[in-house]
Amino acid sequence: MKIKNLKTKIKNLKRQFEQETADRQALNIKYLGKKGLFNQLAKEIKTVPAADRKQAGKLLNQLKQELTAQLRQKQTKTQSSWIDLTIPGKKPKVGHLHPISQAMTEITQIFTEIGFTRVRYPEVDWDWYAFESLNMPPDHPARDEWETFFVDLPDTTKDIAYDPAKPRKRHPDQAGGQLVLTPHTSNGQVREMERLNSQPPIRMINIARCYRRQQDATHTQMFHQFEGLVVDQGINIQHLKGTLDYFAHQFYGPGCQSRLRPFHFRFTEPSFEVDFSCHLCQGTGQIKKGKKSTKCRFCKSGWHEVGGAGMVHPNVLQAGGIDPDKYTGFAFGWGIERTYTLRKGLNIDDIRLLYSADLRFLQQF
Ligand code: PHE
Repeated sequence: MKIKNLKTKIKNLKRQFEQETADRQALNIKYLGKKGLFNQLAKEIKTVPAADRKQAGKLLNQLKQELTAQLRQKQTKTQSSWIDLTIPGKKPKVGHLHPISQAMTEITQIFTEIGFTRVRYPEVDWDWYAFESLNMPPDHPARDEWETFFVDLPDTTKDIAYDPAKPRKRHPDQAGGQLVLTPHTSNGQVREMERLNSQPPIRMINIARCYRRQQDATHTQMFHQFEGLVVDQGINIQHLKGTLDYFAHQFYGPGCQSRLRPFHFRFTEPSFEVDFSCHLCQGTGQIKKGKKSTKCRFCKSGWHEVGGAGMVHPNVLQAGGIDPDKYTGFAFGWGIERTYTLRKGLNIDDIRLLYSADLRFLQQF
């Protein structure tokens, strides 16, 4: 084929294409498909004399580009020429609060309903509030459990000798002391007593971020705790147990029970560990399937340990300027991550997923 003939063929093909009215997809197949008109023409390049083949190639390339561009235009034209109002709309994607934020809102609601006040205290706080005022004198081994991050600033109280016979009363912020990243929300206890000028009644719920030097599948260096504190005249363990049961019913459902096991904390006496009954097996540890029953895979024993609690130690009340002969109180505190995933019946094998910002994970909540 002479190059002249090729040129005419190209021209004709273009004209034919311009007159087309079919939709884009059909045209795409007809002209640019594998066996389309363009490829058919392109095959004929073999018959063009060798000297003209370079030019022929160029012309064909141009043709292809033009057809592709025009095809795009054809579609926009038809699209803008009419609107189908019956096509269902596209829903915009709506996000939601992070699961931990959801849990925090819910926990706040549950406690404010029975007269607690939600407060927040510093996440970087003085040693005094995190330890010393909680009956943990400097160098006391009980502190080890809290795997604390200390802030690298000079401790201005280091030179004041510690005298166990004369515990320091109050540690005004200005006095310094070592700063820590709060390893628990219990730093809010004495702060709340101070906020209320040591005047009970106190009903506090303190939710905050906490930090500990541990990082593995079940621990993150940053996590959340919530802390309850009630101080008034005549407060006793029954009030604590009643409050925990109330929370269990509200958060996990009416069948859920709480259980107190003896434990030890420096800032409560007596102290307990708190368990909630497993809501999958109703605390029996067994799941019934017909006549057979198998071990509940979620809890194994019927109970989940969630955190600590106890009656506020007299020394702690004193540190907050409250007379322990007149007033008593209870406190409890535990991690939100675990509390929340338990309810969902989730055994998240890696808790770090909660903070991975991986939408595939977060969208499930
Ligand atoms: N602060 C304790 C912890 O982090 C929990 C606790 C709070 C225990 C209040 C007793 C009273 O383990």
